[in-house]
Amino acid sequence: PVVILDFGSQLTQNIARRVRELGIYSEIHPFSTSIDQVKEKAPLAIILSGGPSSVFEQDAPSINPDLFKLGIPVLGICYGMQIMAKTLGGKVVPADIREYGVTGFYREKTISPLWTVFPDGDPVLMSHGDSIIDLPPGFSGAGHTKTTPYAAMENPKAKLFGVQFHPEVTQTRSGIKFIQTFLKDIAGIEPNWSLTGYIDRKVEEIRNSVKKDSLICALSGGIDSTVTALLCHRAVGKQFTAVYVDNGLMRAGETQSIVRDLQSLKLPLVVSHSSELFLKRLAGVKDPERKRKIIGRTFIHVFQKEAKQLGMPKYLAQGTLYPDVIESVSSKGSSSVIKSHHNVGGLPKRMPFSLVEPLRELFKDEVRIIGKELGLPDHFVHRQPFPGPGLAIRILGSITTDRIRMVREADRIVREELDGTDTGQSLWQYFAVLLPVHSVGVMGDQRTYENAIAVRTVTSVDGMTADIGEIPHNVLIRISHRIISEVRGINRVVHDISPKPPSTIEWE
Ligand code: XMP
Repeated sequence: PVVILDFGSQLTQNIARRVRELGIYSEIHPFSTSIDQVKEKAPLAIILSGGPSSVFEQDAPSINPDLFKLGIPVLGICYGMQIMAKTLGGKVVPADIREYGVTGFYREKTISPLWTVFPDGDPVLMSHGDSIIDLPPGFSGAGHTKTTPYAAMENPKAKLFGVQFHPEVTQTRSGIKFIQTFLKDIAGIEPNWSLTGYIDRKVEEIRNSVKKDSLICALSGGIDSTVTALLCHRAVGKQFTAVYVDNGLMRAGETQSIVRDLQSLKLPLVVSHSSELFLKRLAGVKDPERKRKIIGRTFIHVFQKEAKQLGMPKYLAQGTLYPDVIESVSSKGSSSVIKSHHNVGGLPKRMPFSLVEPLRELFKDEVRIIGKELGLPDHFVHRQPFPGPGLAIRILGSITTDRIRMVREADRIVREELDGTDTGQSLWQYFAVLLPVHSVGVMGDQRTYENAIAVRTVTSVDGMTADIGEIPHNVLIRISHRIISEVRGINRVVHDISPKPPSTIEWE
């Protein structure tokens, strides 16, 4: 593989994805991985990521100089270039002028074919406060920008290269071409990573580990658990069963549509109709975190009951993705719990099953591609994220059958007006929230005192941050008009115009 050593940059996963998009398998490991462990992977090339530190800080992540003596081509990006320079005897200092944003790159007269991908003044994304002022012995400058004399460096004999800019983002116009040239012309790697190959390999692996035993999985209707189920089914056929727990908190028509889609793919499916149990346990509960905990616990309870009925299968399949297993340097910091997302819809760590996790090596976009290859319809593959606790966290205050009805109907109207439109496609999520307030209205000549719905529309790349999603005024008016006239109990609609941060996407 290509081994990417992570120094904590937000963009490390981008590097891995760009490499894979070029048809070359890549793995991310922490910068502290030992030389022996790196050698064990037999990497054909090593990429050092960027990172938030300064190389001269006290506890700055460092690297073993022997890494550069393995004869394996190394590309250092941003911090990766600086740590390479410092480790090999160069000098890095805080820059007089920090450089953030897109700027023109000018290459020097260089030896390697790498740099010819950049025409004079080609845009590159810079984001650094430190700069190299002396190159290590054996290196020469490969290019500069207006403020940074060593924006790139090379030691072609030792196969060591560095760029101060970020080739892994689209703002660096020739970035992908650059990475490709490095991997192909310098490291001599031929592309051979394909997702079709991945499907065959995983099916084989599942078959080999499960053998004659039975295999179960909890299916939420999301892409990860569904693709997991399809792979398992392809591998062991009738020895596999998927369990779908209907908690009564799904959107209008959703359970039916999920079940229909899965049945048409011939997936052996047990549907556990458990909405009454969930609603009973949620009765009178207003606190968001308590809602999540109750739903999580009830889910485990129901799932275990179903597993028992199936004779306690030995194996459990889960849709764990690569970003969940990367030992990420950046995620080490202890961030405070804002919402306990990952405790819901998930199963506890210690369970009487052996785990099968066929998506452990994949990024989300790769799972989508596999889902398509396995026959999932488009609307399934591009389904909006939907929280595990479902509508429960979109009903502020206590959850009753009638309040579920109101938010569900309002949500259906929001979706009907935006699904399949350009506006809808530009949004990450759009949905309705039932607020815990009553306000006065007038319908006909009658005074009303009823509920309010908030319409939430956001754009986002990964759900970590979000912006307000703009909607044409007439569409917004139509949504409001329809909700008020069609949903009994609602007399007011507001549009939520808060970005994340400081708000979050969901209200609870
Ligand atoms: P927030 O509200 O934290 O949401 O800005 C970020 C993304 O996560 C989804 N979300 C959840 N997903 N269980 C989930 O599986 C949860 O409890 C949960 N809460 C929020 C939310 O829909 C958004 O995509």
